[in-house]
Amino acid sequence: MQRIAMLASGRGSNLQAILDAIASGTLPAQVVGVFSDKPGAAALERVPADLRWSADPKSFASREGFDAALGDAIAAVQPDWIVCAGYLRILGDAFVERFRGRLLNIHPSLLPKFRGLRTHARCIAEGDREHGASVHFVIPELDAGTVIAQARVPVHPGDDADTLAARVLEVEHPLLIAVLRLAVAGRLAERGTNVAVDGHPLFTPLLLDSAGALRSPDAGTPL
Ligand code: GRF
Repeated sequence: MQRIAMLASGRGSNLQAILDAIASGTLPAQVVGVFSDKPGAAALERVPADLRWSADPKSFASREGFDAALGDAIAAVQPDWIVCAGYLRILGDAFVERFRGRLLNIHPSLLPKFRGLRTHARCIAEGDREHGASVHFVIPELDAGTVIAQARVPVHPGDDADTLAARVLEVEHPLLIAVLRLAVAGRLAERGTNVAVDGHPLFTPLLLDSAGALRSPDAGTPL
């Protein structure tokens, strides 16, 4: 059984979606730890106490010190995949290199648009008609790793950042689970700055369809 470690700073709805998918038998994996830079994060409460790790970065002398403690705690649970979902602290280069190739992030925008924070408000301010979410491999540059898959949603007239965020969140959960299904089946790999699925390079991100399956945009068959 493949082992997933989760990094979260907030409410953990993506974590909950993963736990639910595991419980219902649609994701053959186990969550082996939840790691947070916010000791009060609601995400931590979603797993038994022995699976929780948190520490306040302010109690460390340096960013590197916090990252090393976090990295050691993660390494101790021997994860196959490490998933950042709403983890709001930047991961240092050494941390990223330590886990490179098994470090995934879900980001609420159609990358490369809107890296960083406040993606929904920025999307509305730009007048975009489409928004969404992306799952990518993490590299040292923020939100810049190769995108594996995306889910798209329309922006409606009258949307504010909250209504748009809610619409995006609804597709984030199936998107993340679909990517993790590929990952735990051994079908996904980071190859340098590229992504390979089933051993073939991915030239454009996979797209989540309305049935929750991933498709390559040019080929009709679901993966
Ligand atoms: C999600 O929108 C995620 O994409 C973003 O932060 C939010 C986290 O939500 N980076 P949750 O904590 O999983 O509910």
